[in-house]
Amino acid sequence: MSENPQIQQLRKRKTQSRLGGGLKGIEDQHKRGRLTARERIDLLLDKGSFRELDSFVVHRTTNFGLDDKKFPGDSVVTGWGTIAGRLVYVFSQDFTVIGGSLGEVHAEKICKVMDMAMKNGAPLIGLNDSGGARIQEGVVSLGGYADIFLRNTLASGVIPQISVIMGPCAGGAVYSPALTDFIVMVRKSSYMFITGPEVVKAVTHQEVSAEELGGADVHSEISGVCHLASDSEPDSLYLVQKLLSYLPQNNMEDPPFIATDDDSLRMDESLDSIVPDDPGKPYDIKDVIGRVVDNGEFFEIQEAYAPNIVIGFAHLGGHSVGIVANQPAVLAGVLDIKASEKGARFVRFCDAFNVPIITFEDVPGFLPGVDQEHGGIIRSGAKLLFAYCEATVPKLTVVTRKAYGGAYCVMSSKHIRGDLNLAWPTAEIAVMGPDGAVNIIFRREIAQAEDPEKRRQALIAEYKEKFSNPYAAAERGYIDDVIEPRETRSRLINALEMLSNKRDANPPKKHGCMPV
Ligand code: HXC
Repeated sequence: MSENPQIQQLRKRKTQSRLGGGLKGIEDQHKRGRLTARERIDLLLDKGSFRELDSFVVHRTTNFGLDDKKFPGDSVVTGWGTIAGRLVYVFSQDFTVIGGSLGEVHAEKICKVMDMAMKNGAPLIGLNDSGGARIQEGVVSLGGYADIFLRNTLASGVIPQISVIMGPCAGGAVYSPALTDFIVMVRKSSYMFITGPEVVKAVTHQEVSAEELGGADVHSEISGVCHLASDSEPDSLYLVQKLLSYLPQNNMEDPPFIATDDDSLRMDESLDSIVPDDPGKPYDIKDVIGRVVDNGEFFEIQEAYAPNIVIGFAHLGGHSVGIVANQPAVLAGVLDIKASEKGARFVRFCDAFNVPIITFEDVPGFLPGVDQEHGGIIRSGAKLLFAYCEATVPKLTVVTRKAYGGAYCVMSSKHIRGDLNLAWPTAEIAVMGPDGAVNIIFRREIAQAEDPEKRRQALIAEYKEKFSNPYAAAERGYIDDVIEPRETRSRLINALEMLSNKRDANPPKKHGCMPV
């Protein structure tokens, strides 16, 4: 123990700051089944790497007796540290201090780490657990939120931003996480909504619990707001660590290369028979992905939302890739509003952060229906199209089976700057499926035939012969090569390496007008 009184005072102050709202507050937080802001940081970062900022900051409010409630560091812990040896910036809201509510200095602390993360090009991770705008500070709190929203927006596409929701996140406060790239939620102990159950009841007379209104399952399956959900806080923090392993520090870097002992020339014969002979039969595209990527490891994002499209990260020959795949096992892999938007957002993220995009395509088209049309499938489908068209990262496509109609164009086709478009021999590339096509172009002929059904079947067979294969597209160079499915891994890795110095750019402009 140092005898120096100044050092003693410093230590005393730091100890006090580390206690946040005090021992009782920490106990209450644990009773709620939640960890404290500092315990979370300790779990997230490499041991001993955290360096704290602003632990002496106190609020300046005197309203409603708040001058008696001052806690050094206020209601958020901020600073930097490392994850797997790589720099990250972090803020962690401290619910033990005035419910983690956000006032002027809380916002200033967050803005400071955000500015540092931007200046130094490293990811920002926000651990959210807050009662929202500090009511006693009035409009100053709202201003603080807006200061953060601005920074979230300016940082978008420059540094990865990840939000973990570990408690309440309500009202306008949800918009900071919503502006970030990924939202991770903890089941049963976190929720997000614009207006809570009581306001919902007052306005709509609907009774709903916080969990039913905005819990992790709701946002994972129904709204799509949540990208990754877990059953515990430590798991949610592990998901952040894992996610970062696929990402670069900022938009000027490439993602980290992770050397693998999985042979880049590995053939997988089971892929040769994975697509059923009957084109109406489903198969699981995740079985294809698992057999192609390094060690079968696929880190899926938004697994439970719009499962007719599959998105996520993997490594191929050590290179980080983003995978977008139609899922024939769900709704035949059709593109609907939700799937289009899910895919579009992911493609844009990958493009912003130099992550090559691999597209596995088996899509019968866009989903027909009044709900879809009235819900704006035109606009949503255009988002996916826009995202793929705009993307300049290496884009590799493998057509495993169906590539029909507009969906053929959208799913990273050659025409929209696909760098290498491969097809399996099972590919069917055409304006539409044989049944629909024959019914339209030969309607009169079939009706007038002696045996209409026989004639219909004959015409279907003729159409299949002509179009239900990859060769019509390959003859025109719309498909660069038809490959044996077993070769997929080696061909994709070879192409990634061939494209490692790819340079492509869009015309100079302020920004495009994506159909949002
Ligand atoms: C000031 C707050 C607070 C807030 C909680 N506290 N939220 N203080 N401003 N927004 C305080 C409580 O008074 C209490 O203080 C302590 O934090 C812990 O809160 P409890 O209510 O005891 O905890 P719990 O029962 O777990 O309930 C948590 C809660 C509830 C659900 C978050 O506190 C709550 O409903 N708070 C208000 C939420 C809200 O409406 N916020 C504004 C949202 S609108 P003591 O001293 O008793 O320990 C918004 C706009 C942002 O945020 C706009 C951006 C543009």
